[in-house]
Amino acid sequence: MIRIAVGEFKLGQKEKKALIDVIDSGRISEGKKTFEFEKAWADYIGTKYSIAVNSGTSALISGLTALKYKFGIKDGSKVITTPLTFIATINAILHSGLKPVFVDVDRDTLIITPQNIKRALDKESGASVILPVHLMGYPVDMEAINELAKKYNLLVMEDAAQAHGTIYKGRRVGSLSELAVFSFYIAHNIQAGEMGAITTNDYNIFKLLKKIKAHGRMCECNVCTRSLGICPPLDNYQGKEDFDPRFCHDMIGFNFKIMEFQAALGLTQLKKADQIFEIRNSNVKYLNERLSRLNNILQLPRYSKNISYLAYPIIIKDTKMISRLMLRRDLEKEGIETRPLFGCIPTQQPAYHFLKSQYKNKLPNAEYIGANGFYIGCHQYLTKEDLDFIVDTFLRILKKKE
Ligand SMILES: Cc1ncc(COP(=O)(O)O)c(C=O)c1O
Repeated sequence: MIRIAVGEFKLGQKEKKALIDVIDSGRISEGKKTFEFEKAWADYIGTKYSIAVNSGTSALISGLTALKYKFGIKDGSKVITTPLTFIATINAILHSGLKPVFVDVDRDTLIITPQNIKRALDKESGASVILPVHLMGYPVDMEAINELAKKYNLLVMEDAAQAHGTIYKGRRVGSLSELAVFSFYIAHNIQAGEMGAITTNDYNIFKLLKKIKAHGRMCECNVCTRSLGICPPLDNYQGKEDFDPRFCHDMIGFNFKIMEFQAALGLTQLKKADQIFEIRNSNVKYLNERLSRLNNILQLPRYSKNISYLAYPIIIKDTKMISRLMLRRDLEKEGIETRPLFGCIPTQQPAYHFLKSQYKNKLPNAEYIGANGFYIGCHQYLTKEDLDFIVDTFLRILKKKE
């Protein structure tokens, strides 16, 4: 039986009431709650705009599509990114008609470095976008990446799906580039079941994203006002009273709209965002302090008070002492749930085997972490007894191997 889950979702009275309020409102498709959530999320991250979509993957595809439209990026153009991420990041690049170019990550922080990006840019031509991922909540060095982007004339889009609230140089990640994407999937810090969002300060990108998520339709209003005799796009079509922007599409979009339920859940969670951040952060600190005697066997997470931790990532340093397979098996037997650290996408994920020979042995850190890294939970519902149980279990398992 699982005692320490990687993540948990608890439906409290506030969440239940928020869902019932949606039903009672008579509108379950996108409406007031969605716009309320979008405003609240933009305020929390520190951007002018936020657009809710039905998943983090949709947010990635929408963001890349918006960049393609606005900046005329051609199909097949390259996106410099990380090989160590949840596969959605890379799937979205391909589904958007673009080509991923992988640069290696830092072994300690799991994220891509400006030095590795620069090396790739000096070799590669045809790159348009840098897509860093703030994996597990660790912030990528955005200042250096933005400088590189300026120098090489590239755009930057952050994947902040796993970093709700992480602070980098005084600002939240997700506010540090052209646009950023988030996921509120159930395993993340702010949970809405399935939902994503894009944040941006650029009004034109915001307008484009509104269209992209709704089949490219020409509407401009959040809620339709035609029944009141008001239709701003129609005003621009004087003399064409037959024009109906709801069914007129000037770009090829998607249906990435959400339901009011997700937005309502997101809003209840957002009220607890600081608390969720602080508890997860202090759980990581506590575990790091108690497990530090295992430092020669395990690489524990880097700690900073500014990181909003998705989970507690561990990399096995001494693989002769214990393999990931054995350690995960022993932990799971004791009721501690574990998950692998995603794998190095081009070389360790079967779906990307067509890239294997191109990247084999070129991404040593991502390959090492992909083979020897895993994570356990550090979520807000863990008690002090749970944390002590984690510590005791690790010490017991690893002591037996000494
Ligand atoms: C880094 C990263 N990007 C994108 C996504 C995709 O989000 P979703 O599952 O909401 O589609 C995830 C999901 O876990 C993720 O971890």
